[in-house]
Amino acid sequence: MTVKQKQERIGRNELCFCGSGKKYKKCCGMQNYEISDSIQKQYLDRFGIRLKNEKDIEFIRRAGQLVSDTLSMVESAIHPGMTTDEINTLVHNYTIQHHAIPAPLNYKGFPKSVCTSVNDVICHGIPGDRVLKNGDIINVDVTSVLDGYFADANRTFFVGTPGQDAVKIVNVAKNSLKASLEMARPGNRIGDLGWAIQRYAEGQGCSVVREFVGHGIGFEFHEAPQVPHFGRKGTGVELIPGMVFTIEPMINLGSYKLKILEDKWTAITADGSLTAQFEQTILITDTGYESLTPFDL
Ligand code: MF3
Ligand code: CO
Ligand code: CO
Repeated sequence: MTVKQKQERIGRNELCFCGSGKKYKKCCGMQNYEISDSIQKQYLDRFGIRLKNEKDIEFIRRAGQLVSDTLSMVESAIHPGMTTDEINTLVHNYTIQHHAIPAPLNYKGFPKSVCTSVNDVICHGIPGDRVLKNGDIINVDVTSVLDGYFADANRTFFVGTPGQDAVKIVNVAKNSLKASLEMARPGNRIGDLGWAIQRYAEGQGCSVVREFVGHGIGFEFHEAPQVPHFGRKGTGVELIPGMVFTIEPMINLGSYKLKILEDKWTAITADGSLTAQFEQTILITDTGYESLTPFDL
């Protein structure tokens, strides 16, 4: 279904696409938006969401393939005894060699080219002299800019041989992302994605981090919409073809509460429990979704 067909399909008596739960004619349909306004304009004006065209998508797909390749390269390099700064160097050099720019470097003052988050670090870990040891888990979050287009993905890796808790949290985080991807199709809503994650993860006795969300991406690192990893079914903006955003659930073995360290970046679990994350950049297509940062889940 194209965006144009979608526009013709919205009836005045149907639920409004903005997620209010009201009929379209009693909501956005009665405001200053002409019926003739394209859905693209309404998504931009009302939600700040920039839909992507075929050309944009092809460029984001290329940036995304580079991000996926970078994560595979890191996977084969990771070993006990390595520092997180060595991972930073690998990611930085690989990105530059492929004519891309590492988006994290200097982003709002972030000092490195990748985020490396070990064990109880939820996200935004800064690479440094920490030495990885057997049994650690580490999330590596790569965002690259290629020909001006952004793509963002992350995976959590085992260092050496994992313990039981590590296996559990990594599996639950991976399956949480999978559960949300199953809801990623036109007609469903942003809230359905977080609902699916929360239902699955809490059902496994784990918790969902609240403070960090997925995000629109492509022209910028972080665009509208925000994509919470918890929430209510049937709420939020309706998913339509041409939307590109990340889903990146952070799942804790214990409580969802977190602390931010003195460096103002590193987020850790308040109770010291293990935490894991997987992230992909996806495109909503006519029939479902396409991962623009593909890797096996
Ligand atoms: N890649 C992270 C995300 O998924 C953002 C990292 S911001 C940085 O949104 F500055 F820490 F790189
Ligand atoms: Co992201
Ligand atoms: Co990321």
